[in-house]
Amino acid sequence: YVMNMNNITWHHMSVTKQNRHQLNGHKSCVLWFTGLSGSGKSSLANAVDYALFQKKCRSYVLDGDNIRHGLNNDLSFGDGDRKENIRRIGEVSKLFVDSGIIVSTAFISPFRNDRQLVRNMFDSSEFIEIFVDCPIRVCEKRDPKGLYKKARSGVIPNFTGITSPYEKPENPEIIIETNQLTIEQSVQQVLNYLKEKQIL
Ligand code: PPS
Repeated sequence: YVMNMNNITWHHMSVTKQNRHQLNGHKSCVLWFTGLSGSGKSSLANAVDYALFQKKCRSYVLDGDNIRHGLNNDLSFGDGDRKENIRRIGEVSKLFVDSGIIVSTAFISPFRNDRQLVRNMFDSSEFIEIFVDCPIRVCEKRDPKGLYKKARSGVIPNFTGITSPYEKPENPEIIIETNQLTIEQSVQQVLNYLKEKQIL
């Protein structure tokens, strides 16, 4: 045992992350997709996950809309609750990475500081920030869930990009311009990065 704070001890497990990487034949990491609502985070995370699955990799997706139905159904879209949303997803992602899985997360995660706090939970090679870059006018035109329309008419308060800020990443590992690339090209961009960094 190491560490003993508040009578909680940290138990070292027999199977290490490295053992799991060997078993799986690839390393684990978090692919942290961030971007506006409607920018294509969920579609891309899902497509990357599908491509990894087909390559027989161990992978999983955590998606904002889905997680807010369960684990984080107590959280609103105020700044403080968004922060807590991202903190919890960071912790859950850490468990996935420790279990040897490549986890793709699709959360707006609008605040630079909150993303930085998650980054700090990981070794530098394990956290891959992917800026899903799409102009708000394009997101608003897509408006797949009709939320921009509602936000403009004042029905949804604190809507990202309208009445709540989105702070663009300054140094993301990957930038994907979803209004310039096909989904296949975007997926390839992520897979190329993973190969280049010898995660795959
Ligand atoms: S955050 O900012 O990271 O905590 O947001 P996230 O958990 O990713 O949830 C975003 C999805 O919630 C829906 N939604 C809103 N988004 C932004 N602002 C407000 N006020 C809001 N209310 C509901 C919306 O469907 C988001 O989904 P995506 O997939 O991003 O479009």
